[in-house]
Parts: sequence; C-alpha cells; structure tokens
Amino acid sequence: TEIPLTLSRLTGRHVIVTSGPTHEPIDPVRYIANRSSGSQGAAIAAALRDLGARVSFITGPATVPPPDGVDVIRVETAQQMRDAVEASLPADAAVMAAAVADWRVTNSSDKKMKKDGSGRPPALEMAENPDILAWISKLPQNRPRLVVGFAAETNDVIQHATDKRLRKGCDWIVANDVSPETGIMGGPENTVTLISENGPEEWPRMSKRDVARRLAERIAEEIG
Ligand code: CTP
Ligand code: CA
Repeated sequence: TEIPLTLSRLTGRHVIVTSGPTHEPIDPVRYIANRSSGSQGAAIAAALRDLGARVSFITGPATVPPPDGVDVIRVETAQQMRDAVEASLPADAAVMAAAVADWRVTNSSDKKMKKDGSGRPPALEMAENPDILAWISKLPQNRPRLVVGFAAETNDVIQHATDKRLRKGCDWIVANDVSPETGIMGGPENTVTLISENGPEEWPRMSKRDVARRLAERIAEEIG
C-alpha cells in the first residue's frame, strides 16, 4: 500500500483557520451577527488536515459542525476571536475565513433590555472591532509566512478585493461575489477569484469542498 506523497505535504505545518460568524451581544438574549454558515471555513480546515497540517480551527457560532481531526477553539465575539488567534501563534499560515462583525455594541446591557413604553427604540452605541486579518498581516514578530484573507463582496468584486489585499497587508485574498442572486451564501457552491501579488486568477464555479481542496493545494505549494 502506497500512501501518495501529496497526502503528507503539510505534515509538521501549523495552520490557523478562522471560520463562521461572530456574535456581538446587545443584551443576554440579543446579538448582532453576520450571515455565515461556516461551511467554507470548515471545508478549508478539513482539506488542510487531509494534507497533514495541524489545524487550529477558531470558530464563531457557525451552523455547520467543525470537522474532525482539527483543534477546535469556539468563540463568540470578534475580540475573543482575535485573542484566540493570538494564543494559537506561531503558525506557518493563517486563513481568515470568518465573517467577523465589523462593530460591537459598547452599551450592551447585562439585563434584558425592556421597551420603556415611549415607542422609541434604544440607541445602540457601537465601536469598530479589531481587524484580525490586518493585525496578523502586520505583526512585526510571529507573522505567519502566508496570510490568506477573504473578501465577500456584492459589487465590483475584483476591485474591492484587490484594494482590500493591499490595505490589509495579507498575501492572498479569496474574493467571492455574495450578491443574493448568486445563491452562494449558505449554499454548497462557490465562485471565487484568488488574488495574489500576481493579480486575479478566476476559478470556475465548484463545490465549496473543491474550492477548499484547491486552496489547500496552493497553500501546500507555498509553505509545504
Ligand atoms: N476580517 C477580520 N477581522 C475583522 C473584519 C474582517 O479578520 N474585524 C477578515 C475576514 O475574515 C476576511 C477579511 O478580513 O478574511 C475581509 O473581511 P471583510 O468584511 O470583507 O473586510 P472589511 O475590512 O471588514 O471591509 P468591509 O467594510 O467591506 O466589510
Ligand atoms: Ca467587514
């Protein structure tokens, strides 16, 4: 029985994968969240595992379960996700597939908020969350050799994603069109463009599992 070499190309490598949405509490029973099933992140973690990597899978409250054979770190908020990423360093690569809430509520209540009878809704005050992708990409020490971000856009996908890559300082951006008519959010397929220093490379529409395998292959070529 011959084990193909490709199966173990990431043996001894450590990869951090963030996945799922984050939830930002308003009060004990309410939160602000992003739409994300976590299925693309879970598929990427599984594909990296299949190539032999040790995977730290840092996940918000996703709808799909985490894959077997990875180290699962469950978090709720963006700040917790950032702390978990930091605690998982050093790593050879980081893939930030989470849909992180951009803002958190700073006047959240530890008791359930009640209607006060005035008919006026409460005013939520918000602050910007830490940008985990930009933070890890610009680390002076311990920066993973390869940092991969995602850009879910509804319009001008390549332009926004190319700008995002430069602004965040990551190596690659996996860009996808999540406008409702594509049916990609929550669905089994994805149409992505990989943007690197060499520019955009459009991949055909394929299952999220195949996107994950192809991305894991590329990561293995880079850090394997
Ligand atoms: N990201 C992150 N931390 C954040 C926000 C985003 O790590 N606080 C990561 C995501 O996981 C993704 C990438 O950054 O890999 C791009 O996320 P996106 O929401 O598209 O980018 P933003 O910079 O938040 O820009 P936008 O205003 O378009 O939402
Ligand atoms: Ca965002």
